[in-house]
Amino acid sequence: MGQFGFTGLVCGLLLSLAAAEDGFAGWLRYAPIPCDTSCLQRLPSKLTLLNATTGSPIETAGLELISGLQSIFSQNLTTTQSRCDESSSILVATVEDFRHECNATTAIPELVQDGFWLRSTGSSVQILGQSARGALYGAYEYLSLLAQGNFSHVAYSSNPHAPIRWVNQWDNMDGVIERGYGGLSIFFKNGRVVDDLAPVKQYARLLASIRINGLIVNNVNANATLLSAENMRGLGRIADVCRPYGVRIGVSLNFASPETLGGLDTFDPLDATVVNWWNNITNSLYEHVPDLAGYLVKADSEGQPGPSTYNRTLSQGANLFARALQPHGGILMFRAFVYDSNLNESDWKADRAKAAVQYFKNLDGEFEENAVVQIKYGPIDFQVREPVSPLFANLFETNTAIELEVSQEYLGQQNHLVYLPPLWKTILNFDLRVDHKPSLVRDIISGERFNRTLGGWAAVVNVGTNTTWLGSHIAMSNLYAYGRLAWCPTDDSERILHDWTRLTFGTNSQVINTITNISMASWPAYEQYSGNLGIQTLTDILYTHYGPNPASQDNNGWGQWTRADHETVGMDRTVGNGTGYTGQYPTEIAQRFEYLNSTPDDLVLWFHHVPWTHRLHSGKTVIQHFYDAHYAGAETAQTFVSQWESLRGLVDKERYDAVLDRLVYQAGHSIVWRDAVNNFYFNMTGIPDQKRRVGQHPWRIEAESMELDGYRLYTVSPFETASNGTAIVTSSNSTTGTARTTLHFPASTYDIGVNYYDMYGGESHWTLSLNDQVVGEWIGNMRNHTLGNSVSIYLDGHSATRVIFRGVKVQKGDELKIVGRPDGVEPAPVDYVVLLPSGVVD
Ligand code: GCU
Repeated sequence: MGQFGFTGLVCGLLLSLAAAEDGFAGWLRYAPIPCDTSCLQRLPSKLTLLNATTGSPIETAGLELISGLQSIFSQNLTTTQSRCDESSSILVATVEDFRHECNATTAIPELVQDGFWLRSTGSSVQILGQSARGALYGAYEYLSLLAQGNFSHVAYSSNPHAPIRWVNQWDNMDGVIERGYGGLSIFFKNGRVVDDLAPVKQYARLLASIRINGLIVNNVNANATLLSAENMRGLGRIADVCRPYGVRIGVSLNFASPETLGGLDTFDPLDATVVNWWNNITNSLYEHVPDLAGYLVKADSEGQPGPSTYNRTLSQGANLFARALQPHGGILMFRAFVYDSNLNESDWKADRAKAAVQYFKNLDGEFEENAVVQIKYGPIDFQVREPVSPLFANLFETNTAIELEVSQEYLGQQNHLVYLPPLWKTILNFDLRVDHKPSLVRDIISGERFNRTLGGWAAVVNVGTNTTWLGSHIAMSNLYAYGRLAWCPTDDSERILHDWTRLTFGTNSQVINTITNISMASWPAYEQYSGNLGIQTLTDILYTHYGPNPASQDNNGWGQWTRADHETVGMDRTVGNGTGYTGQYPTEIAQRFEYLNSTPDDLVLWFHHVPWTHRLHSGKTVIQHFYDAHYAGAETAQTFVSQWESLRGLVDKERYDAVLDRLVYQAGHSIVWRDAVNNFYFNMTGIPDQKRRVGQHPWRIEAESMELDGYRLYTVSPFETASNGTAIVTSSNSTTGTARTTLHFPASTYDIGVNYYDMYGGESHWTLSLNDQVVGEWIGNMRNHTLGNSVSIYLDGHSATRVIFRGVKVQKGDELKIVGRPDGVEPAPVDYVVLLPSGVVD
């Protein structure tokens, strides 16, 4: 485990223990900080733990403190027998034990479940939890301060925003993770729980350090075989590994299990045999996992079975599980992601966004007290911009939780840096004005607004076996921030990032500022180049949810429509003339979105169907905004590369290179996005870009215009994912192709980019030469190995990518040549070559 850092300040002993910066330690690196004798004297040297029973979070807190202080300062804590010793000591206990055993009268502010009190006067530190779990959180807080070089004297209590702070893993029993971009499952393989749970232990540790207290281990599209006797034992082992970290596990259930696994002839939630079957299953589960957090259920959604099969309501379905859990104190999370995926676009009033309220509003008050309706932040599906789900304003006697997605399914799948807290905050801070009173989403999910006792947070995380967990070092800021916000949603996005960066990359201010700048610009940039004005992420919703494919949104039953045509675009969701969706919000909000003049630009196409020439509040037309935003977003993404390069030498090479690779890829793919979306709508509307950029590429050479030998033209679909709609592929899958051209650009130094397609199922090889001198060569293996996104077997917006060779001297009349050697099904495809003079982005 890589706990030791790269600063070079460690002594010989530690150096020999130093592990690679492969990301496995996440933000818990405890990197060494120089500390001389007087500094060491100001640190505690002893550790007192009250009731550190084996496997308890108190014991874990002690182990973390010992290894943390050793790793950061080479300070060896000695465990004291003298109870309640305060001098030069860290005391860790629950408040109750502290009061009882230490006869203490210290005034400690009131702590709620999982809360903690931290007092440090330098060498004397008190960490007291409302529970053992809270004490562990306090220990992590203290270590986080130290690891960031913060030696302040502090005295404060900290309480959670909500009791439910869970993560969801969409791991399948075969080990594949649905919408996971960091490798295979750390929990399952070949239908059973894996033997080696060391990564699970480290995951639990990371989760505990950000105060996550629940972990759903399997996919919401659940497989009933999880409930086999063998797998229940496996779940017991997972729980044993997580328990010392105060992380309780839970499982996703398949509604039809009584039939498919239990052999009953029904799964009707009101049938006594079914009720009995679930009660027995639940009792057995609790025998293996006595502290099971509960269940997560996706029912009647996207083909999953549910109570509708028997004409039962969703609440009747939910209560079946809630009641089974009640004797054990478990929680049922019931997903609100229920909608008809066979809508008819020719029906102007059809609207998937209305579904959650339509299904759940009338059931308000019918759910058991230990049931929580888990609601995705927006009414569609984790899009780059959505208004808040109106369901939050329609359930008053039902517990609710928000569902976020750390895994960047529609947001670049961890190949694009997109720091998500600013997006999440548009939802959390949204005031729904229920009954004309302040009704912030964050106050609704905490239970505060409607006086609910239960509520909180879930996030789809999908870490995998990749040592970086999510497939990308910098994507981990999203997981860290999720935990921070679930504890305290008013925490500032930038400050969270600062903390994460210090812990992950060290305290150098240039590193912190650069990562902050890049990260804070990343969601706005991604929105700009992937789908703006509330049209949603214009990705391929029918295939991988990754690259651009605007046409895929329409003419199908999924209801993620743009309704774009030659003259108009956007969903009319007004009550006056549209789907009536705005009417699902409380009056003040409904009124705001009902009218164009009060709808903010960034959601205009979500709520209104307008001409492309409609003028926004910004003064631009919709189409010109599209063009400009896509150019601006892609331009911003190019700057990520140069900003990151300013950190060469300040970040260890392993992570520097890995992050750079991804940012270079993102810069190239952002151009693919930009051109695809702009070309698509330019083609549809015929409205030229006022700045004459769209379709104009003076520095490009189309591959199809080159002299070809062994290459042939290929019409790419969708057309907009190739420059000029056409690429070249080798004439056969086994013979090499050559494309040459004479350059007529002015003599200068250029960055030469080659746009090509890196498909799944082959690793082609390309060579770029100038006058037969090799400029560079590359292999099409990103999809197969390096990147974590969903793969594509086609030439399209997912496989389209760019390789770039910097600072190449070019003379007029030079011959440029590309030689492509196909491999497998990948015919060494090339789209175009671009020669970029300094400062030109294209
Ligand atoms: C999205 C996602 C699916 C997932 C579903 C869900 O549609 O693409 O993979 O199963 O959400 O949240 O249930």
